[in-house]
Amino acid sequence: MGERKGILLITLFLNFITFSASKLDVTQFPPSFLFGTATSSYQIEGAYLEDNKSLSNWDVFTHLQGKIVDGSNGDIACDHYHKYEEDIEMMHSLGVNAYRFSISWSRVLPRGRFGGINPSGIQFYNNLINQLLVKGIQPFVTLNHYDVPKELEDQYGAWLNAEIQEDFGYFAEVCFEAFGDRVKYWVTFNEPNEVAKKGYETGEYPPALHSQPYVAAHNMILSHAIALHIYKTKFQEKQGGSIGIVLSMVWYEPLKDTAEDYSLVQSTFDFEIGWFLDPLIYGDYPNEMRKHLGPKLPTFSAKEKETLQLGLDFIGINHYKSLYVGRCGVSYCKVAERNGIPIGKDTPMPGSYVVPEGMEKIVTYISKTYNNTPIFITENGLSQKSDDSTSKEELLDDTDRIDYLDSYLTFLTRAMRKGADVRGYFVWSFIDNFEWTFGYTLRFGIYHVDYKTQKRTPKSSAKWFKDFLNVPRLQPGREDEKSKAI
Ligand SMILES: *[C@@H]1O[C@H](CO)[C@@H](O)[C@H](O)[C@H]1NC(C)=O
Repeated sequence: MGERKGILLITLFLNFITFSASKLDVTQFPPSFLFGTATSSYQIEGAYLEDNKSLSNWDVFTHLQGKIVDGSNGDIACDHYHKYEEDIEMMHSLGVNAYRFSISWSRVLPRGRFGGINPSGIQFYNNLINQLLVKGIQPFVTLNHYDVPKELEDQYGAWLNAEIQEDFGYFAEVCFEAFGDRVKYWVTFNEPNEVAKKGYETGEYPPALHSQPYVAAHNMILSHAIALHIYKTKFQEKQGGSIGIVLSMVWYEPLKDTAEDYSLVQSTFDFEIGWFLDPLIYGDYPNEMRKHLGPKLPTFSAKEKETLQLGLDFIGINHYKSLYVGRCGVSYCKVAERNGIPIGKDTPMPGSYVVPEGMEKIVTYISKTYNNTPIFITENGLSQKSDDSTSKEELLDDTDRIDYLDSYLTFLTRAMRKGADVRGYFVWSFIDNFEWTFGYTLRFGIYHVDYKTQKRTPKSSAKWFKDFLNVPRLQPGREDEKSKAI
């Protein structure tokens, strides 16, 4: 009797320890860890033709019939261009120490390198960056988040032409020169793997083509390499920042427990992630891609390989979901169900399922495959469906999002305990915004935006995030800790 009681108590005690160890707590992250929210220029800024900004490819695309489900566009979006001070004040009250945003290329260089630098564009980002720093928030800046000046599309076909490498290098240099004294984190590209696929294969994104994704990607890789080379040789020593790239990363599980399905998982990672990270870290495309694509896959010259050797200071992971991959009958398939059981809870974003373990697995995979390069989780979050029948009260009560963020962060701490060098985490998104082809029908914000009045209101998840962050050591203004970030 006594012995059994002892065992029971020990079991209860062990359960208690396991439970407390797995409960999410900000102290499980190092003091230098960046916690922030993320956005992108086209999705929030609006002011699409103000102060000499020119049209971008997305301005053109959203004005075409039938491209965006609700017929909307980013002409006004969240009007962040005029409301950035209020928005920064909200971030300050949230207690984040970083903010990930992107620079609109067509606002800074309305005609690419075929025209002048727009002083109003430089001024806007200077104001934004300075105000963030006043509030103790580190700017984490993306140079290209989907949008390209229309001029470059018209002049030479943007990503399909090697000429864009020169334009991107020029844009990057203008930004390093103008903002690099204050910006310590640079991202060259956001999700070039999505842009190449959706812009040049499925045709869902501009320029809505169905050919040459590998040529477009090749030019993005070389554009990245040129920007990185410029930063490393002309700015890094003086400015002391770091530079990386962000990819969209889905976690894949084998559909069946067969050698073939395991190898299809690896092949999928090679085609979606290795496509960009292998050249940038190992100097060339994965063998698997070369084997399947042959001459359709461009090659790097000896000189280009040399530029690629400079490596990456960090890898940005945008992670939302997991899927199964394997053989279904005669063909290769990506599916959400195995034996009729979905991989996770469905979400309003089609094909997106909640699988928190995917965070631990993708981070561990990237860390092991790419030499334990420092990692930032540059996007993670949950959508809400929004139409005329959805009330604001429902949208504010986003307990699903709290569960999502809590569980994904919990699995992130597991990857970190296993050795992954993770340096920061950004919730997608700060505020509800223009969700590309879904227009305003999906809301990812932890702050609600009423698009009629532009009023922002914290959702339950914003309050949850604030409580999570609200411990003294992460309060803004502790420069000594922040400067140790990389
Ligand atoms: C826009 O460009 C014109 C012509 O270069 C210039 O005169 C004007 O001041 C600019 N406006 C703003 C707000 O930058």
